[in-house]
Amino acid sequence: MARDELLDPEAGPGEDPAVLERTVTGDPSDDATVAPLPSLRPRRLEEFVGQQETKTRLRVILDAAARRGQAADHLLFAGPPGLGKTSLAGIVAAEMEVELHVTSGPALERPGDVAAILTKLGEGDVLFIDEIHRLSRSVEEVLYPALEDFVLDIVLGKGPAARTIRLDLPRFCLVGATTRTGLITGPLRDRFGLVARLDYYEPEDLQAIVERAAEILGASITPEGAAEIASRSRGTPRIANRLLRRVRDVAEVMRDGAIDADVAAEGLALFGIDELGLDKVDRTILSALCERFDGGPVGLSTLAIAVSEPTETVEDVYEPYLIQQGLLVRTPRGRVATAAAWRHLGLHAPPPVQASGDGLFD
Ligand SMILES: Nc1ncnc2c1ncn2[C@@H]1O[C@H](COP(=O)(O)OP(=O)(O)OP(=O)(O)O)[C@@H](O)[C@H]1O
Ligand SMILES: [Mg+2]
Repeated sequence: MARDELLDPEAGPGEDPAVLERTVTGDPSDDATVAPLPSLRPRRLEEFVGQQETKTRLRVILDAAARRGQAADHLLFAGPPGLGKTSLAGIVAAEMEVELHVTSGPALERPGDVAAILTKLGEGDVLFIDEIHRLSRSVEEVLYPALEDFVLDIVLGKGPAARTIRLDLPRFCLVGATTRTGLITGPLRDRFGLVARLDYYEPEDLQAIVERAAEILGASITPEGAAEIASRSRGTPRIANRLLRRVRDVAEVMRDGAIDADVAAEGLALFGIDELGLDKVDRTILSALCERFDGGPVGLSTLAIAVSEPTETVEDVYEPYLIQQGLLVRTPRGRVATAAAWRHLGLHAPPPVQASGDGLFD
């Protein structure tokens, strides 16, 4: 997402979403098959840390499908950026030992684009559609019979002379990913056998993710160092991995290369990540809210303009964590800073009720 491109232009080998971008920007009908998934990504379900409930359910679905020798049911992964949706799509394909085809909602502009991809699938293959909430209505309609009955209806000609021919498709498994479950239409959502919501990770899980990544990168890190990075990673593996790389840089350039809690804290401070894991943009959002709008309520678009970020980025990338941390609340009248936000910024909240919007307008 935008955030990562901004903060981490060199996402490092193996973390690059270029694989996806190729299909996003290129002709969607050209080969959507993906090269091997990158290295820091967990490849198998056992390597995927945390999200125990989702993993258990997936294991059951995948094992049952494998026993029957069938494609797994269609799966939808929802949740904020960087929690492992794309990784899980790759894992599903690896576990089922089938090929993974990758595309995304915005890349599938016309019904013909979907038809081109569907007809390339092999028996049991996984089709991964990222940002599936951005599919157009006409494309969705082509997908429905494909998902339910594994057929593709192609309309030939126009007007009264038009006829439909029906093509059989292989049984495939659609894996959808979305940062916005709310935007998925009912009929599409209903066609998934599992809708898994990924949550922000617990600190212990993130610590395990940091330790695993350090091992892959060949960096030496103490458990305390990993815990320090984990605690400032906003519950997000992608951010944990990115912070680890920055801290490793600091450790190599300014110290002897080993990462302990002190080096981690120093490195994170150097890159402007505070104790809650908030970065400059997060703090800008909070201080705009408190200082310029007296704590709110203020409309999302006004707030986004005040911090010079796209509305969607503020809503999808920054807000969820601020909300989860109890620093910001959404109300029908707009965004409101909580008392904790004022405290975090070292400011005094104004006495009136508006300093804490909890429950006020709900
Ligand atoms: N459970 C996990 N265990 C270990 N590493 C993980 C886990 N989840 C994610 N990661 C790491 O975080 C990175 C980001 O994950 P991924 O690309 O799958 O997220 P995403 O949910 O698809 O994000 P986006 O919504 O931005 O597409 C991966 O490259 C991987 O290194
Ligand atoms: Mg992804």
